[in-house]
Formats: sequence, structure tokens, C-alpha cells
Amino acid sequence: MLQGKHIVLGICGGIAAYKTVSLLRLLTKAGAEVQVVMTPAAKEFITPVTLSSLSRKPVVSEFFTANTGEWHSHVDLGLWADLMVIAPATASTIAKMAHGVADNMLVTTYLSAKEHVIIAPAMDLDMYRHPTTQRNLAILAGDGVGIVEATSGQLASGLEGKGRMAEPEDIFEHIRDYFDCGGCLSGRKVLITAGPTYEKLDPVRFIGNYSSGKMGFSLAEELASRGADVTLITGPVSLQCHNAAIRRVDVESANEMYDAVRNVFPSCDIAIFAAAVADYRPKNYVEAKIKREKMEEAVIELVRNPDIAAECGKIKREGQITVGFALETDNGLASAKKKLAAKNLDFVVLNTLQDKGAGFRTDTNRITIVRDTEELTFPLKDKRQVAADIADAIEASITHDLN
Ligand code: C5P
Repeated sequence: MLQGKHIVLGICGGIAAYKTVSLLRLLTKAGAEVQVVMTPAAKEFITPVTLSSLSRKPVVSEFFTANTGEWHSHVDLGLWADLMVIAPATASTIAKMAHGVADNMLVTTYLSAKEHVIIAPAMDLDMYRHPTTQRNLAILAGDGVGIVEATSGQLASGLEGKGRMAEPEDIFEHIRDYFDCGGCLSGRKVLITAGPTYEKLDPVRFIGNYSSGKMGFSLAEELASRGADVTLITGPVSLQCHNAAIRRVDVESANEMYDAVRNVFPSCDIAIFAAAVADYRPKNYVEAKIKREKMEEAVIELVRNPDIAAECGKIKREGQITVGFALETDNGLASAKKKLAAKNLDFVVLNTLQDKGAGFRTDTNRITIVRDTEELTFPLKDKRQVAADIADAIEASITHDLN
């Protein structure tokens, strides 16, 4: 599967380093040529002899071999690698990578790597959720580093929580997906809508909804980190883009969003409609603030907004991939299937408000990806991880079409 692929496997000083032996075994069994690079601290957790025996190459850890004075070239390693994987990636190495602190062979090799880099963070739960670590991870994601999220469970400290390194099989799966797809999102034009829309009533009031935009923004970051050329059209949210390559267009109302989408949709390869677009807007905009004392009861007349996803479905070109969302409170699957057909979508990402931790204003989501032939249900995950699952499904469909 990975025959002839050159992989630099970076190992940092964390207890999860013992699991990296299994990852190395999976990689070499699949035919990859692996060069292990360890931080000095990693050698306290696992012996270089184990790793060099399995990789059939001397492990590199220092800039020089002490007794021979031989210099190890991080630049050559960076050029040699088709992929660099760092597992476990500790808080300290993540911080050094984010800020270019090249004080060991591993980080220096990272800075010289020409191809994609994937990291599998592992640390104690407090270190993992610390704002500094989260900020550094966001910087790396913005720089295009693939992140195989840490999982939740029992940690070496005895505490329970998020921070366990993903299992070697899962990291291997990411690596295989990367090579299978051959970076197939790279250079693809992706349009994403995100956030709520605000429909103005008067100068100080609007009709809106609780959408935070987190799902759409996570998708934008995830696809940009996979090399896609992303345009993010967003309603009013309080989120920032981390990846400088994301083109952000801010809009307020459904009509403004529709106008912005119409400019971009015809030339995009993939469109993901993650915005919670208001279905209706006030029929009349009142120029001056509506006065309360004038009325006992108020009726607002509404008119329909354009269904952006459905309108794009009508002009969709052969080969364009479109993805919609369905947030349902009941009969989820049936409604999702109806939307798939009615809006001419390739996938509908279904989430129901009945699932705790799913839907609006949460950091997590539990989704089912609905296609005309199958449904894929995932457990409750971080929105960034959910975005990775959606990106995987899109990549799989591109790879399928290419074959
Ligand atoms: O019909 P419903 O609103 O449930 O459909 C949800 C999907 O359609 C989402 O992908 C949403 O972004 C999109 N949509 C849209 N324009 C609308 C309403 C929904 O693009 N006016």
C-alpha cells in the first residue's frame, strides 16, 4: 500500500511513545521506508535500538553523532520525505513547531519538510486543554499541518480525559488516506457558507438564529489544511480564521449571502452549505426604530428567502460536489434524504437537536453522513474532527470518481 513511500517518523518524549512502535511496524509492513527521528527526551521512554531494528535504519536524534562527528542533514531529510508524521507530539514540541524554535533535530527537520506533516498530540488533559496548547495547535492547523486529534480515556497520570494519543491503527489510517487521495483536495476550489443570517426589521432589530458558525469555520480550516483553495462566506459570527489562505467574505442577510455565493459557485469544485440561513425575512424594513408604545400587539409580515443550496443545485455542473446540512428534531433520516434529492446534493450531513452536545453553539457534534446509497454514523466528536470526517468523505468520493 505504501510501497516506496518515504516517511520521517518523529517521536517526542511522552509515554505514548511505546505505541509508536506499533505504528512503525504498520508502516514498514505496508512497504514504507521509514526514518525515525527522536527528540532527546523520547530516548528516555523508548530505546533507539528497538526503532532502528524495526526500521532497519539508524535512528537520528542529534545534529552530530558524538564519536564520529558525522553531521545529520535535516535539509536532506526534509527533501527525502514524502510525508512527516510526529507521534506522539508533546505540548513542548507542538509549541516549538508553532514558533519555529529549531533547537533539536526533530523540529529542524519539521521546518525543512517540503511535503505534508501529520501530528498525533498526546499529553495530560490539563496540558491539552490549556489555552497555550490549543492556540499552538490552531497555529499548526493554520500552517497546514494535519492533526490526528487526541482521544479521551484513562491517561498515564491516572486522570480521565482528553489527551491520549490516537491508536496506531487510526494514525495509520490517516497516513493511508493521505497517500490514497494523493492530496486530492490540493488546489480544489471550495465554497463554504457558515453562520446565521440576520434579517433586518429596523435599524436596531433583526430576526436571526443561534448558529455560531463553528461547523463551517472548522470545515474551512480542515479543507484549507488539506490544500484546498477555500472561500468562506459567513454570516455575523465572532470567529477568526487561522489559515491565512482562507478567503473570507462577510455578509449579513440571506440575500447578501446568496449574491456572494452566486459569484463563487459556478467556478468552485466543491460547495458546502453549512450556514443556517433564515428561511424568511421581514417584508418591510422600517427605516426608523419601531416604537413600542404605538402598539399592543405586533405582527411581522415575512417573505421567503432564496434557498441558496437549492438554487445552486439547479445550476450544478457535472463533477461539482455539493454538501448540505440538516438539523432536525424528528424524522431526521427521512428529511435528510428528501433534502438530498430536493437540493440536488451529493451528501447531507444530518445532526439532530436530540443528541446532547450536537447542533448549535456547541464545540461538538454527532453526525450521520447521508448519501443516496449509504449512511455513515459517527460518534460525538469535536467539530474539527467532524470536519475531518466530512473532508474524508469528500476525498473518498473524489478518489472513487478518479478511479
Ligand atoms: O431546508 P433546510 O433549511 O433544513 O436545509 C438545510 C440546508 O440547506 C443547509 O445546508 C443550509 O445551509 C441550506 N440552506 C440554504 N439556503 C436556505 C436554507 C437552507 O442554503 N435559504
